[in-house]
Amino acid sequence: MKYTLVTGGTGFIGSHTVIQLLAQERAVIILDNLSNSSRAVLPRISSLSKKEPLFVEGDIRDKALLESLFEQYEIESVVHFAGLKAVGESTEKPLMYYENNVWGTINLCQVMARFGCKSIVFSSSATVYGDPASVPIKEDFPTSTTNPYGASKLMVENILQDLQASDPKWKVILLRYFNPIGAHKSGQIGEDPADIPNNLLPYVTQVAVGKLAQLSVFGDDYPTHDGTGVRDYIHVEDLAAAHVCAVDKLTEFSGTKIFNLGTGTGYSVLDIVKTFEQVTGEKVPYSITPRRPGDIAECFADASLARTELGWHATRGLEEMLEDAWRWQSQNPNGYADSE
Ligand code: NAD
Ligand code: WQD
Repeated sequence: MKYTLVTGGTGFIGSHTVIQLLAQERAVIILDNLSNSSRAVLPRISSLSKKEPLFVEGDIRDKALLESLFEQYEIESVVHFAGLKAVGESTEKPLMYYENNVWGTINLCQVMARFGCKSIVFSSSATVYGDPASVPIKEDFPTSTTNPYGASKLMVENILQDLQASDPKWKVILLRYFNPIGAHKSGQIGEDPADIPNNLLPYVTQVAVGKLAQLSVFGDDYPTHDGTGVRDYIHVEDLAAAHVCAVDKLTEFSGTKIFNLGTGTGYSVLDIVKTFEQVTGEKVPYSITPRRPGDIAECFADASLARTELGWHATRGLEEMLEDAWRWQSQNPNGYADSE
């Protein structure tokens, strides 16, 4: 049996992707150290997919563990989600971010190369565009970063491209996600931040469910239609579907391919609050506070390359993203902790 190794497969995007890979009859091994996820997601993945992924609790920095996995199983491709992702934390603990995200990926690639597995899909981010000169953003826009998290993503992109250039057997797909939100339709899996959320949507849903008092809207003086920051929110299920397309694509080409994954439409913070209130009937009290350092005014994708080359496009609109996020949060007010 040939396997796809999914690092970080118990996390937010990984768990949704694992379900979709299993639905395509792919055999999946999840490797996750559970540093930002819960074991409680595993029975939910199994019950939703009616299939059993293999789960290994472990770290991508553990070379002996990786070697034993590649020895034991015929792994033909890797979908590499594992990483730390909190921008603020990365500025406080840069070495932790570089060690985990950059060194972890080097370690993984070294073992992959040793075992002749040279096909990888990597979770990159729109953060690599820095503050773009214009929107929508295309894949050939200049890259730059403003924090260690973003720098770690860009470093890994460069490392994977250099690796592919050194050995044409490597097939590398770099997926630059815009702002993933939403949850599985069942309400059984979703985003479960460990602490107070950094990102807008989990903050909004936690205010609505009564865990947090009110949302701070970080600035209303940006040059956008209502002064608040504009982003390209994409349903996590659409994102998961793109990974299935990417894994399929790995069999068809050699080289490095880079794709933006977004809807191509930008919404402001206040658009999100108002639409959330409309579709859920819940109130989201908020106040306007100063801008968050490092934030940009506007960021949305030109995702036409993924449509033409990957055969993928986002199909779910904002209302569906918000309804699904709310179903998850209202059914699991404390995330996976409720079932641990
Ligand atoms: P997540 O934190 O829910 O998932 C990441 C998973 O990786 C977690 O389950 C965590 O326990 C695991 N992990 C971390 N370090 C590990 C290590 N050294 N070894 C093994 N497992 C490890 O995050 P997510 O939102 O699902 O993001 C997945 C990937 O996508 C990350 O690489 C992230 O940087 C990237 N990304 C996320 C977003 C976003 O807004 N969610 C946007 C762009 C890119
Ligand atoms: C969205 C908008 C905020 C919280 C970050 C990372 C990026 C990527 C996605 C991983 C902005 C505003 C937010 C709040 C607010 N992650 N906001 N109040 O900043 O676009 O991107 O997550 O790769 O790298 O930087 O997402 O959800 O934090 O913010 O007003 O409490 O919501 O100012 O305009 P962002 P976000």
